Amino acid sequence: MTIILDGKQTAEKITENIKKEVTELKAQPTLAVVLVGSDKASQLYVRNKHKKAEEVGFKSIVINLPEEITENNLLEQILLLNDDVNINAILIQLPLPEHINKERILDAIHPLKDVDGFTSYNFGRLALGYTPFAIPCTPKGIIRLLDEYKINIEGKNAIVIGRSNIVGKPTSILMQKRNATVTVAHSKTKDLKEITKTKDIIISAIGKPKLITADYVKDDAIVIDVGINRTDEGLCGDVDYKGVFDKVSYITPVPGGIGPMTIAMLLENTLELYKLQKKFMG
Ligand code: GUN
Repeated sequence: MTIILDGKQTAEKITENIKKEVTELKAQPTLAVVLVGSDKASQLYVRNKHKKAEEVGFKSIVINLPEEITENNLLEQILLLNDDVNINAILIQLPLPEHINKERILDAIHPLKDVDGFTSYNFGRLALGYTPFAIPCTPKGIIRLLDEYKINIEGKNAIVIGRSNIVGKPTSILMQKRNATVTVAHSKTKDLKEITKTKDIIISAIGKPKLITADYVKDDAIVIDVGINRTDEGLCGDVDYKGVFDKVSYITPVPGGIGPMTIAMLLENTLELYKLQKKFMG
């Protein structure tokens, strides 16, 4: 029997607990989301984050900036947010326009306000096995969902498909930390199917609709689908959900799987940063 890893329900549970905790705080944690340009998918993600942040009682500020903003002006905005004691968490929605050096912008965020864990300080600490102030939201959400269903990770053969800084790379680090044996595949990997069909856990974050069909998975595999692909037939993941369903032991749906977990982890990270700032700076 296949078990659906219900990210929506798990995220709601986490969110309820955060909401309760926020009512007991003296102040209101504040998340600032910076959106550059008018990409429709990014606008939708940001609206969602804003709505969920307000639902748990945070203050949420969305800063919309024009596509043509210069790198220096954007940098200035980040530095203002760093200096603003009323802002606890900063998120810069990706992707940024081509003319902007992403590295310079993301790394300007103060590590204590880096809610995505994308600064070299926090990401470096994660890679070294030290404790960062924040762990990237999607990878953290994947591990949390596996834990919620009491899925044992230790000793499992796992494959992470995709090597992005947002998902693939940090997920492979977290899975190693949990003692999985981790393979990382990407767009240049040869014979992907031959590799995936030997794995106990498949985590796909490559953005190719329905790439993972039944012949890519072994019996009773655990399948985590991070893909959110917009096709003519609507939203779908990287996995052919219906095609693999009967073969696997656990699977995440799209939507309702990793997406809501990512937002729940964003809220959790915001609250944790707020608490760290209180501890360090009063
Ligand atoms: N764009 C797609 N996913 C993410 C994410 O997790 N964080 C940010 N900042 N941008 C994204």
